[in-house]
Formats: sequence, structure tokens, C-alpha cells
Amino acid sequence: MRKVAIVGVGMSKFGEEWNRGFRDLIIEAGVRALEDANISGADLDGLFCGTMAPGNLVGQEHTAALIADFMGLNPIPATRVEAACASGGLALRTGYMAIASGMHDAVVVGGVEKMTDVSGGLVSEALGGAGDQEWELFQGATFPAIYAMMARRHMMEFGTTEEQMAAVAVKNHLNASKNKYAHFQNEITIDQVMKSKMVASPLKVFDCSPVSDGAAAVVLVPLENAKKYSKDPIEIVASAQASDTLALHDRQSLTSIHATQEATRKLFSLANMTTKDIDVVEVHDCFTIAEIMALEDIGFFKKGEGGGATAEGRTALNAEISVNTSGGLKGCGHPVGATGVKQAVEIAWQLRGVAGARQVKDAEIGMTHNVGGSGATCVMHILKRV
Ligand code: COA
Repeated sequence: MRKVAIVGVGMSKFGEEWNRGFRDLIIEAGVRALEDANISGADLDGLFCGTMAPGNLVGQEHTAALIADFMGLNPIPATRVEAACASGGLALRTGYMAIASGMHDAVVVGGVEKMTDVSGGLVSEALGGAGDQEWELFQGATFPAIYAMMARRHMMEFGTTEEQMAAVAVKNHLNASKNKYAHFQNEITIDQVMKSKMVASPLKVFDCSPVSDGAAAVVLVPLENAKKYSKDPIEIVASAQASDTLALHDRQSLTSIHATQEATRKLFSLANMTTKDIDVVEVHDCFTIAEIMALEDIGFFKKGEGGGATAEGRTALNAEISVNTSGGLKGCGHPVGATGVKQAVEIAWQLRGVAGARQVKDAEIGMTHNVGGSGATCVMHILKRV
């Protein structure tokens, strides 16, 4: 296996981008990544793009070929990757495997979703397909409802409170207010979260990630060639993935994501690292309870202590562990197929030391954690400054 490096990163602004379509968003991100890597399209030999539901959301399938066409990359081999909200992370892992195996020498990996062209009901239905259609969505259990069940159980087993969950949203909006690409640029208070409209009890609007448009992209090459393209390449030290049941009722626990625990185990073993080595992490906070569970499942905090740790400020920028400096899915936004790639873009900026007002001091090693649905897929990466 060859070592793999990220040599270029780029993203579009996340948000309700009504003046731009699916292809505009991914091409903007892709061109920025290529320019950042100072690489021409002719030097690329593969394209991988994560996107979850373009057929339902914009009526477009066959999206990898479309992107290759509009980026002027034909006849490059172009492959779409789908794993619900983990589509971006899985596209990154697919690109990583393509370079590591020696099959490809320079690939662009993108993630994109255009979600705001259809009604909220249709978005919920499209997203609901990431769960078990027959046992969950068909019965009316949309994603806020599914995560609400996890939140209720977490509150019952560990005493986690709604205020502790609100603290996740407050922190992530604060980080997002320092990120010009973020969907939300406004700070919020615990009181605002607590008084926001109930979506699925106990989760309120401000406990939820929003419905967003956006795209992100990275360029990957073998580490041995990286300095040809970038003065500050980022090594992908390890990549891991795990699966679990789609249906929540088949799980042994509602308060842990088993796929996260399994992917974490593999990831740290491949990298020969522990949580203590990680300076900055982007975790999958599709709902505030999801960030708390991720921090516990990865092992930053003991089970049941993630909420308290967040409320005490231990996950804030430059605190014990800097979590979701981009603003996370909650503040930066969650164009589902783009999220996993955006996480890698944010970590690359942090490790290069160019994250501006949200820079983690002396960040050397970062981690990404991308979840599909309620935890049926988990994809994680460890990135390191070279
Ligand atoms: N956080 C903060 N503000 C939000 C928000 C969120 N999650 N969702 C919407 N808003 C804001 C909008 O910006 C808008 O503000 P404005 O009036 O100042 O323009 C206002 O709330 C109303 O927006 P609207 O789009 O009508 O909200 P909605 O009630 O239709 O949708 C949710 C709110 C929470 C239901 C929707 O964001 C949602 O479904 N989120 C979850 C997405 C999801 O499941 N993703 C996959 C996870 S696995």
C-alpha cells in the first residue's frame, strides 16, 4: 500500500444557495481544489463523488459523469459513491483506496448535495430513505424522530439534559460564526435553543442540522509525489469504515453507535494512535445528541459524560479537544453528500494553520467522523501535517 496525501482542498459556501444548481456547486468546489493543488485536469486519472439523493432532490442521476463533463475532465473514469449522509466520507475513502492500491496516481474527490429546490416534506422523505424504509420511514419515523428516541434513552440512562444538548448547538454556532463558508453565521444562546420550536421531543429546531446546499472537494496523490503539488500536503494516516443495522430496533443499544465504536477501533489500530494524539476533530453532529454520543463512542469522554463535558466547555475551540471547528453539521450546514468531504477540508485547513479566527493552536493531527443515517455506516479518517 502506498501512503496518500491531500494536496488541494476547496468548498462552496454552504447554505440556502438558490442562485446556484447542483452542478454549479460541485464545479465551484472542484475547481477550487484543483487550483489549490496547482494541478491541471489532464493530470488527474480518477474522479469520485459522494452524493446521497440527487434523483429525489434535483431529478438528476448519473451525477459522476455529469460532473466530469462540466469540469472538462472527460474521458476520466468517474464514479458516484452513496452511503446516505456518509457519502462524502466514503468517497474520500474510495479515493484513498484508489491511490493507496496503486490503481490511480491523482484523483479528485468531491461531495455535493442540492437540497433546497424541493419542499421540506420531500427532503424529509428523501433523507428518511437512509433508515429502514419499511420499519421506520413508512411508519412516520423521520430522522429527527429517530435521533429523538436516542436522546430520550440517553437522558434516561445517563441523566443527560436538554441544556447540555443545547450547549452543543451554542458551541457549533459560535465556531460557524468564524467560518465564511458556513450556513449560519450567527451566535445563539442556550435560552434561544431551549425556546426554539419543538421538532421531535426533546429535539428542537436548534438541536437539528439544517437542510443545506453545498459542495466540497479534495485532490489526492501518493505522499511521495505530494511536494510536487503542495508546499503543505496533509497525509491521510488511516481510513476506517464499519456498518450496522439500518433499523434502530435491531440495535443492542440506543445510546451508542456501534459502527462508530468499530471504525474507531480499526482507525486507532491502523494509525497506532489514541484519542490523546488528536488535536482537532470534526464529528457527525446531525443532531446535538449525535455529537455527544460520537464523543463518547470515539472515547474522548466516558459513556454518559459527553453532555456534561460539552456544557463545561471542554470541547470548545482550543479547550481540551477542539470539536467541530467548522461549525459542524449544526452550524456550517449539512448538504448531506458534501459533509464528509467538508470535514476533511476543514481539518486540512486546521493542520495547515490557515483557519483564521477558528484556528486550533499548533494543530498537527486531526480526525473526521462521518455517519450515514442513524449509524448504519461510519467512515473515519486521521489526517496529519507532513
Ligand atoms: N437550525 C437553525 N435554524 C434553522 C434550522 C436549523 N436546523 N432549520 C431552519 N432554520 C431556520 C431557517 O433558516 C429559517 O430562518 P429565517 O426565518 O430567519 O429564514 C427558519 O428557521 C424557518 O426555516 P424552515 O426551512 O421553514 O424550517 P423548517 O421548520 O421547515 O425545518 C427542520 C426545520 C429542523 C425540520 C429542518 O431543518 C430539518 O429537517 N433538519 C434536519 C435535517 C436532517 O434530518 N438531516 C439528516 C440528518 S441524519
